[in-house]
Amino acid sequence: MYNLLKGKKGIIFGALNENSIAWKTAQRAYEEGAEFVLTNAPASIRMGELDVLAKNTNSQIIPADATSIEDLENLIEKSMEILGGKIDFVLHSIGMSVNVRKKKAYTDPNYDFTQKGWDVSAVSFHKVLNVLYHKKAMNEWGSIVALTYMAAQRVFPDYNDMADNKAYLESIARSFGYYFGRDFKVRVNTISQSPTPTTAGNGVKGFDGFINFSEKMSPLGNASAADCADYTISLFSDLTKKVTLQNLFHDGGFSNMGVSDAVMDKFE
Ligand code: NAI
Repeated sequence: MYNLLKGKKGIIFGALNENSIAWKTAQRAYEEGAEFVLTNAPASIRMGELDVLAKNTNSQIIPADATSIEDLENLIEKSMEILGGKIDFVLHSIGMSVNVRKKKAYTDPNYDFTQKGWDVSAVSFHKVLNVLYHKKAMNEWGSIVALTYMAAQRVFPDYNDMADNKAYLESIARSFGYYFGRDFKVRVNTISQSPTPTTAGNGVKGFDGFINFSEKMSPLGNASAADCADYTISLFSDLTKKVTLQNLFHDGGFSNMGVSDAVMDKFE
């Protein structure tokens, strides 16, 4: 370990169980010397698994529905109290599509579901940024990261309305990131991660085919949740201070591939 986050204070959203990308990131952040608060939606916290992570990382849990400004205000105020000062890093690792859950086709959604999924998966990031911004809660040279997927740029039919949510999320990172850079010298980026076997990932129809295809297409193979945690730590560290407003592909090279030998072999 490199003590990359020694003395840094953070908030980590979205650790549901040990497969979650946020869970691995919390473990890595702890190893690198950070102190942080863990948060998730009250219903997810009631499942109980987060207590294990909190214990193992010496951290406290504050419930917050990320679509509620009131919950976010409480979270950010309490986090600064617990951590004894402003925040250096924030991970937004939240996604959910009701249309995917209810198996609605992209071409025939329920628009109430569309709106709920958009609020949870994309607008929640705007709300988190809004509360951090107005409370002046970030330290200079802090870093904020949200997780996204390449369906924001290219067509992956079964990703459904999450593709649109991710496009919106990435745009928020740029748009709000400008104000964070200008006013607080804080960076805001999205990491576009390989398909990863988590609760959210496995919810995507045909996920096994999807992850195998991606593995065969990527020269370095898929990036795991643990790999994503490592990359995220680098973005929270002082080694990436001038990286902002970026959508950073963390996918073993998938996003620049046309076709690979391994995939061509299946068609010959
Ligand atoms: P996960 O299912 O472990 O995490 C999703 C989290 O969102 C859960 O902890 C859930 O409780 C939380 N959440 C849902 N509604 C919420 C709300 N209203 N307020 C607060 N939290 C809420 O799955 P995973 O894969 O770790 O997902 C993390 C992020 O990574 C998501 O943004 C996801 O879209 C993204 N991602 C995942 C990929 C994958 O293949 N698993 C690929 C690329 C990006």
